[in-house]
Amino acid sequence: MRIDIISVLPEILESPLNHSIVKRARDKGLAEIYLHHLRDYSEDKHRRVDDYSFSKGAGMVMAIQPIEKVINKLNSERSYDEIIFTTPDGQLFNQREANILSLKKNLIILCGHYKGVDQRVRDHFITKEISIGDYVLTGGELAAAIITDSIVRLLPGVLSDETSALSDSFQDNLLSPPVYTRPAEYKGMKVPDILLSGNDRLIDDWKHQQSLERTKERRPDLYKKFQEGID
Ligand code: 6GU
Repeated sequence: MRIDIISVLPEILESPLNHSIVKRARDKGLAEIYLHHLRDYSEDKHRRVDDYSFSKGAGMVMAIQPIEKVINKLNSERSYDEIIFTTPDGQLFNQREANILSLKKNLIILCGHYKGVDQRVRDHFITKEISIGDYVLTGGELAAAIITDSIVRLLPGVLSDETSALSDSFQDNLLSPPVYTRPAEYKGMKVPDILLSGNDRLIDDWKHQQSLERTKERRPDLYKKFQEGID
């Protein structure tokens, strides 16, 4: 899979994409990720990528010219499954969307900035608009890092069997059960007896029960979906 990320601040993306599991996936060639500096595509003499809004007092707007140039270049090199724009007024991102995107071959993510992007970019180039939650960030880079991370860890071969994404929270609308490691008792705080029983079937039942209880208490919205069998 290949992801091309277009940004005015690609430096923000460097660290999350160059550590831990995402780095390993890139090193193994399971994910190819390229950062493109939007400024490099500006034809303005000061390399500007934004301009004043036609509606007064609305702040700066990302201009169409550099965005068209970089997207045209990428489109001429390969065909993209989705051209995503990160924006607080996009569709709310979730595990289901991460699963869907992880099956694609080539993605572009355009990071939103300033007071948004010229609507013509959204109308003519963008195929999907994503928000990562109901709060406002200074820019779309952190959202792009989160979306990329959630996709890359789902790619075949990235996680080992033990850490398999199939047992993730949200994969079946249930939160994960609690986990424990050694020692079995620490300063009087004990691991639940059942986990020390060695009975795998009882342990699996316990884990499922814990998942149900946690979800019911913490996320009644998810619990309802689970009960209704909604994916
Ligand atoms: Cl994708 N961008 C910005 N700037 N803020 C956000 C967001 C995205 N998702 C939630 N808040």
